Amino acid sequence: MTANTMMALEKSKPSEGLWMVDAPVPEIGPDDVLICINKTGICGTDIHIWNWDEWAAATVPVPMITGHEFAGEIVALGRNVTGLTLGQRCSGEGHLIGTESRQSRAGKFHLDPGTRGIGVNEHGAFAQYLRLPAFNVVPLPDDIPDEIGAILDPLGNAVHTALSFELLGEDVLITGAGPIGIMAAAVARHAGARNVVITDINADRLALAEYVVPSVRTVNVVKEDLNDVAHALGLREGFDVGLEMSGSQAALDQMVEALVMGGKIALLGIPPGTSPVNWGRIVFKAITIKGVYGREMFETWYKMIAMLQNGLDVSRVITHRFPVQEFAQGFAAMKSGLSGKVVLDWTS
Ligand SMILES: NC(=O)c1ccc[n+]([C@@H]2O[C@H](COP(=O)([O-])OP(=O)(O)OC[C@H]3O[C@@H](n4cnc5c(N)ncnc54)[C@H](O)[C@@H]3O)[C@@H](O)[C@H]2O)c1
Ligand SMILES: [Zn+2]
Repeated sequence: MTANTMMALEKSKPSEGLWMVDAPVPEIGPDDVLICINKTGICGTDIHIWNWDEWAAATVPVPMITGHEFAGEIVALGRNVTGLTLGQRCSGEGHLIGTESRQSRAGKFHLDPGTRGIGVNEHGAFAQYLRLPAFNVVPLPDDIPDEIGAILDPLGNAVHTALSFELLGEDVLITGAGPIGIMAAAVARHAGARNVVITDINADRLALAEYVVPSVRTVNVVKEDLNDVAHALGLREGFDVGLEMSGSQAALDQMVEALVMGGKIALLGIPPGTSPVNWGRIVFKAITIKGVYGREMFETWYKMIAMLQNGLDVSRVITHRFPVQEFAQGFAAMKSGLSGKVVLDWTS
């Protein structure tokens, strides 16, 4: 590395893998900041890019510096930037938005149809330095450590989904005990749900869910009947709110059956391609379904930081930590399906 280059994890060619390269340190524009990266989280999206599956091949131009979950500190400010200071610890919203669409002009930035993702459409955070519009920066309070800062993006997915509907006093069903489903269970508990039940088909994931959120009821749907569990918990008519976080059609079907009349579903999980849905069942049960993409800018960030400062604890969802030189082990841990969040340290 020279003074003007940096280490970066790049998709350098259209095939499986990521490569550690020397890349130019990004130049910032007048409205940007330069962030020195301390920690990054590996996301399922990064695994798609590593694997170079159909979605990645159709979406990601190469070469591309990957990664969008990060914490670091500001080391340069564009000349128009106000309200931020050098040395400020921060995370940030990885969805870059325009300001001309109807939704953006209405202040609903997370619904801008022109959204571009860092690490997907533009160079990302798996690097020693990241250029980010100052608008996207989220300062980190002193009591939120870098490794939590590095998983605020997926925690934000969990928070945005979980807070889609009123949870206080409600019985909540979460399908999919991946890192995001598990964090959503913690959020649902924090938000005052009565019962929080989380399903999976992977026993290790359910064990992790219990470890992170001890008061959650886990259900291995391969072995246990969800209806029996609901009855045992005293639910007479079903769950009030469903958070779909597996992307599995079978899980969504099961959720529709397990909900009360007039129940509500927030869908975060991304099913592969198209999938058959029993719409008649959804109509006759008068179910409301909301698709969830990303995080609300910046209400989700505000709420999650407030909750973290008020007792929400998701730290145990981080199961693996590696210096960035060992990134291949980090990706292997993610690919095993046994991990929670995997965090890479760029400071070593
Ligand atoms: N909409 C968005 O903006 C957005 C953002 C991030 C992630 N996602 C999606 O959210 C989902 C959760 O993310 P993650 O990183 O936690 O994913 P993950 O793949 O780690 O977890 C999904 C879990 O679902 C489980 N599962 C599979 N079939 C199941 C079934 N029939 N019943 C119950 N569980 C089942 C899997 O075993 C796995 O543990 C993924 O589908 C991901 O693509 C969406
Ligand atoms: Zn992510």
